[in-house]
Amino acid sequence: MTVPFRYSKLAYAALNVTDLKRSVAFYRDIVGLDLVEEAGGVAFLRCSRDHHNIVLYQSPARGLKRVAFELESGHDVEAAFAHFAALGMAPERITDAESAQLRQQDGFRVRERHSGLLIELFAGARQLARPFVPTQADIARIGHVVIGSADFPSSLDALVRDFGFRVSDHIEDRIAFLRCHPNPFHHTFAVGPAAGSNFHHVNFMVTDIDDIGRALYRIKKNDIKVVYGPGRHPPSNSVFFYFLDPDGMTVEYSFGMEEFPEDDARQPRWLEPVPESLDTWGAVPDPLFGRSGPLEGALCNAEEPAPRSAAGVAV
Ligand SMILES: [Fe+2]
Repeated sequence: MTVPFRYSKLAYAALNVTDLKRSVAFYRDIVGLDLVEEAGGVAFLRCSRDHHNIVLYQSPARGLKRVAFELESGHDVEAAFAHFAALGMAPERITDAESAQLRQQDGFRVRERHSGLLIELFAGARQLARPFVPTQADIARIGHVVIGSADFPSSLDALVRDFGFRVSDHIEDRIAFLRCHPNPFHHTFAVGPAAGSNFHHVNFMVTDIDDIGRALYRIKKNDIKVVYGPGRHPPSNSVFFYFLDPDGMTVEYSFGMEEFPEDDARQPRWLEPVPESLDTWGAVPDPLFGRSGPLEGALCNAEEPAPRSAAGVAV
């Protein structure tokens, strides 16, 4: 579906954490993000030139606070705001004070009402003068966010029709992989069915298969729970490895991903809902895989996994 605005990329995920100090240490020292700022119960970490790609909020409960996409320009932001207002979706502008705190230009937030996920759209993230210097892993970017929706068909329809995401692949009735056109990556977002809408995982894309191998031993050495992998996802052809953050939220490293052209992209595939559609190496997901807490502000929050891991669904 064509929408009157163009995405640049997945910009950041805002996570609620119950012990900010503990989570900052984890995302900096284990995952390998760069801590840019921490003040007033909020921490900004990055894996690129952007001021932040993960924002951690001290909170009474864990979960996904919002997900933010950067659009190509301020004109796109205004066109998008008018688009969502015309649809009656009540977009809310970010205040000048909060935009200043986020070190970014104007933007707004709008809820995908079927899952309750809060989505932020903006343009003009601050680019830091100092490049991101990899420490634990050569992270290229924040790759994607995955959620489960209590009303999967309606959420998928809204994400395609209203938000303009393109479907790259389906695993039949279990998950849809979405790209924020014209960004080329196979998926920057994915959604599957869940008993209650919930956060499934956040992904970081690494530039070398050795980053996956090193992570395997670093994670185990630090007594961090591995919940899935390493393995290879057929839909995106990426090598994956999932583990838990201090709140039990699932974090993924992945290496490699199919890229799509802006025009004349291949049609989405309908993949058989069997474990082999998710992993060709025989990895078995732990029951805690993808049990990452609620979507803040969603009406239907339940501590349920998104797609059922036994069926091999969420990527
Ligand atoms: Fe993933």
